Amino acid sequence: MSQILEIRDLKAAAKRRVPKMFFDYADSGAWTEGTYRANEEDFLKIKLRQRVLVDMTNRSLESTMIGQKVSMPVALSPTGLTGMQHADGEMLAAKAAEEFGVPFTLSTMSICSIEDVASATTKPFWFQLYVMRDRDFVRNLIDRAKAAKCSALVLTLDLQILGQRHKDLRNGLSAPPKFTPKHIWQMATRPLWCMQMLQTKRRSFGNIVGHTKNVSDLSSLSVWTAEQFDPRLSWDDVAWIKELWGGPLILKGVLDVEDAKMAARTGADAIIVSNHGGRQLDGAPSSISMLPKIVDAVGDMIEVHIDGGIRSGQDVLKAIALGAKGTYIGRPFLYGLGAGGKAGVTLALDIIRKELDITMALCGKRDIRDINRDVIAE
Ligand SMILES: Cc1cc2nc3c(=O)[nH]c(=O)nc-3n(C[C@H](O)[C@H](O)[C@H](O)COP(=O)(O)O)c2cc1C
Repeated sequence: MSQILEIRDLKAAAKRRVPKMFFDYADSGAWTEGTYRANEEDFLKIKLRQRVLVDMTNRSLESTMIGQKVSMPVALSPTGLTGMQHADGEMLAAKAAEEFGVPFTLSTMSICSIEDVASATTKPFWFQLYVMRDRDFVRNLIDRAKAAKCSALVLTLDLQILGQRHKDLRNGLSAPPKFTPKHIWQMATRPLWCMQMLQTKRRSFGNIVGHTKNVSDLSSLSVWTAEQFDPRLSWDDVAWIKELWGGPLILKGVLDVEDAKMAARTGADAIIVSNHGGRQLDGAPSSISMLPKIVDAVGDMIEVHIDGGIRSGQDVLKAIALGAKGTYIGRPFLYGLGAGGKAGVTLALDIIRKELDITMALCGKRDIRDINRDVIAE
């Protein structure tokens, strides 16, 4: 791990450790993957102002997201099947985030359950909700998140139907994995992953299996999504969820100025400018290209966060400069997890913190809370 200096190195290491179908699940976007690529590429187009001869001592990256203190404004995104990148992945990533002082968001489609993650952590984490057709199940999930003392609910708005991801379809992705010769080969060539996976009992969707009627096992993510995700989800449902939850609410998956205005009117605490990491509407603009427009439209009404394409601390600084109060990383922490479990997630966060700190100093700033569009070069 000593030669791992940037997120790209963690990605290469994860590719060597994680069976192909699960590595590809993380490293995939919808259709042509154009939006997935644009998320990363558009960050590189933004240039920073180099400033000199300013006092760079006593720097601080501490900030808040929805009023909660964070050691830097970077949360871990909710990601499904995280426990397939590494055995007990959600519990390990949540512990790493807790020790680092940043929020961890558990996906509805996780392998470890809400209760598993609560048992592995000592501080509150965030829970991401997908609204299913079975509203009793949704009520039950919210009650479980409350019982686990989750300190925010992240409601995902951009996955009423599943975007078509070619790698997953070609790989025949499922959890638990199928045992065809192809899948057995993919796992057999990753012996450490297999050994660790054999030592845990958590190999299916922990929040779902055993918690909903008529589901004892989930062979296919796409079948389940097609059957259960609610394509009629509406703004009225957001109001219903807000009422039911009663705590801090973050709306995830807003990419359009009109939608951002509607979201701001719901009274939620924050929105996440996001295209689901380029996994849903291929052809949609990158998150970072939409951020300034959305901040200009609703930034004085609601806290604006962003995810998609953040691969370095520099990207975090650019997002904060363009008006985001918080950022999220999905693939960077998954690569860390696949490469080295909990230590790998900590390393991903360390890499980003170091890059953020050095970049901020070289832009002539000492406090992340003072960063604004001033640091962006014309
Ligand atoms: C493997 C993977 C699984 C994901 N699963 C979920 C999920 O269950 N719920 C959700 O709201 N978003 C999910 N997302 C989207 C992320 O929360 C986030 O929007 C995206 O990863 C951010 O982009 P980045 O990976 O470039 O950082 C997933 C993303 C990835 C890569």
